[in-house]
Amino acid sequence: MPSNSKLRTESHRLYEKACEVMPGGVNSAHRNFVPHLVIRETHGATIVDADGNEYIDYQAAFGPLILGHNHPEVNRRVAEALSGALLPGAGTTELEIAVAEKIHRHIPSAEKVLLCSTGSEATYHALRVSRAVTGRKRIIKFQGCYHGFHDSVLCNIISPADKVGKIDPGSAGILPETLDQTLVCRFNDLDDVERAMQAHPGEVAAIILEPIAHNIGCVLPKLGFLEGLRQIATRHGCVLIFDEVITGFRHHLGGYQAICGVTPDLTTLGKAIANGFPMAAICGKAQLMDHFKTRSGGDTFFAGTFNGNAVGCAAALATMDILEREPVHQHLFRLGERLRAGLQEIHQRFGVRATVEGFGSVFLTYFMDGPIESYTDLLRNDEAHFLEYRRGLLERGIFKLPVNLKRSHISYAHTDAHIDRTLEACEDVLKQMHGAPVRAAKT
Ligand SMILES: Cc1ncc(COP(=O)(O)O)c(C=O)c1O
Repeated sequence: MPSNSKLRTESHRLYEKACEVMPGGVNSAHRNFVPHLVIRETHGATIVDADGNEYIDYQAAFGPLILGHNHPEVNRRVAEALSGALLPGAGTTELEIAVAEKIHRHIPSAEKVLLCSTGSEATYHALRVSRAVTGRKRIIKFQGCYHGFHDSVLCNIISPADKVGKIDPGSAGILPETLDQTLVCRFNDLDDVERAMQAHPGEVAAIILEPIAHNIGCVLPKLGFLEGLRQIATRHGCVLIFDEVITGFRHHLGGYQAICGVTPDLTTLGKAIANGFPMAAICGKAQLMDHFKTRSGGDTFFAGTFNGNAVGCAAALATMDILEREPVHQHLFRLGERLRAGLQEIHQRFGVRATVEGFGSVFLTYFMDGPIESYTDLLRNDEAHFLEYRRGLLERGIFKLPVNLKRSHISYAHTDAHIDRTLEACEDVLKQMHGAPVRAAKT
């Protein structure tokens, strides 16, 4: 343990207490890691544990906190909404209309919009309506992409090497009959997708993907990959779904589709849309969206008790207003570039085999040489080094999730001073792990 290691006695006590009543002491699978954190406060770019240790937070709760924790305007507008129509559960509210209008205005594919509460719901509905419209059963997903916890897509995310190329269920209890309908292709490999289509002619209802594979860090689409998928989907009469639950709003108000210029048929949104409040959406071509049973005559069921609740809507409206009004993306992209360049320089100086990847506010260091085009390449990442490095950072007050291949996020609340402290901590960890640098610092 380094000398500046944190004491976490109170966190440990509370964690033990949590474990008595909650399996594993946490409410979501990836929240259970070592060391066990119990977080008491969150402020802007930082979080504070139950022992009073402060950390610069790059985990951002897996991505929603684009503006930083407890953003005053978002929180104020949520508080105001509490005295309005909170959850009438009948008809619609002006807040719901305003959120749908904003999504419609910004997201290129959003001819029509429906709101729900989580990304998993959004992708579930996207797949169901694709099956309803095409009358087909199969779907194509990509190794390394995550689309939520439901049976059709919970497979082949961070798979062990011997499971790549086979179906790798992400949970016990998944209906094998459902997973049998899922075809898994290699990210950035159009030939693989074409082969899957040819092997199952007229059977594929949808191709679903994260346009940047962020659930394995940051694997960018190669030039032509997204355009190629667009053409394949059109040619084979299936629905192209961009799961922009991470990329939407974080990289651009119009999602990654506004950056890459490829328009999917359906888009799923969540996370950064509401800066930490539960809100998600499915949007897309009117011709598809009009199948939902929210419209009389629709044939595809869509419901949710909390859909369109005022808390999520007020948070989404406030977040989108701020993204429209302030140079948020400019700030995120500038800090992202600075941090990535600094990390690359430090790793080179210490002679560490590393590839710093990212896009905009998302970044991470893989401990391997590039290039990185698909999950198979990431099997070369040195997982032990990855975890030791992140645990070392945690002990120095920098929180990047100590779980293999997980990305980190910068928020609007991060400043150049946070980046400076992060680079210093990184250098200190590498010194501890590798000794003196092998090259002099550039002056
Ligand atoms: C790309 C993507 N899609 C869908 C989901 C599921 O979202 P939720 O956790 O809100 O159900 C996630 C969650 O991490 C995600 O990263």
